[in-house]
Amino acid sequence: MNLTLKIIVTFAALLSINSFAASKVHLDHANTDIFDEASLQNGAKLFMNYCSGCHSISFMRYNRIAKDLGLSEEQVAKNLMFAGKKTGEAITTAMPNDGASNWFGGVPPDLSLVARSKGTDWIYTYLRSFYPDESRIFGVNNKVLINASMPDVLWSLRENQSEAEFDNSVRDITNFLDYVGEPAKLIRLKLGKWVLLFLGILFILVYMLKKEYWKDVKYGVWRPRD
Ligand code: HEC
Repeated sequence: MNLTLKIIVTFAALLSINSFAASKVHLDHANTDIFDEASLQNGAKLFMNYCSGCHSISFMRYNRIAKDLGLSEEQVAKNLMFAGKKTGEAITTAMPNDGASNWFGGVPPDLSLVARSKGTDWIYTYLRSFYPDESRIFGVNNKVLINASMPDVLWSLRENQSEAEFDNSVRDITNFLDYVGEPAKLIRLKLGKWVLLFLGILFILVYMLKKEYWKDVKYGVWRPRD
């Protein structure tokens, strides 16, 4: 086999593995918007109410949330924190690890980076994919994470909301987790536009400068102006 053929075969094999993995579950688009402050605030509230009992987001601190989401520290302390915590503390969970292992057969993972590792579409679809399954301890299974040991924690929310409202709630939680995964994204994306604009203007100036310098260079030989 010649080299080109080998390369083509290798890539074809890699591609087919990839498309096999991707075709297993269909993921819905989360369509989150990290600049939607109201969505992030709602997501934070829902996360604290429905998720933080089991999951930590230990890379995040309460006062950082206050700053980034346009809330005062008092609002955060009142709405998002449990008693006995300080705003400068990391967001951990009250659940003891060995208790969690016995109850769920595993410790609920820290969700600080889950949006980075699994992606927002995955989280959005996962939270909306629980279905009844009597063979599981919590009576539910999940289409995205097969045999997940997480209960369907959002069932009460789903019962009290229309389908569209529920999708929006899940979108807000997903959006919040996306922000938690990379808080600097808020600054990075805003700043990026200005940096590109700056580079654009700089390009014009530098181009004009280049023209000016090269006026004196003719046929590759430098000659002083008359
Ligand atoms: C009662 C405890 C509990 C609650 C409450 C809970 N989870 Fe979980 N969660 C788990 C457990 C246990 C797992 C591990 C599942 C597994 O791997 O089988 C898990 C797994 C996950 C995962 C997959 C992580 C990964 O990398 O595989 C995500 C995402 C997740 N939970 C999000 C949430 C969100 C969002 C909420 C709130 C709406 C929430 N969970 C509420 C127990 C919980």
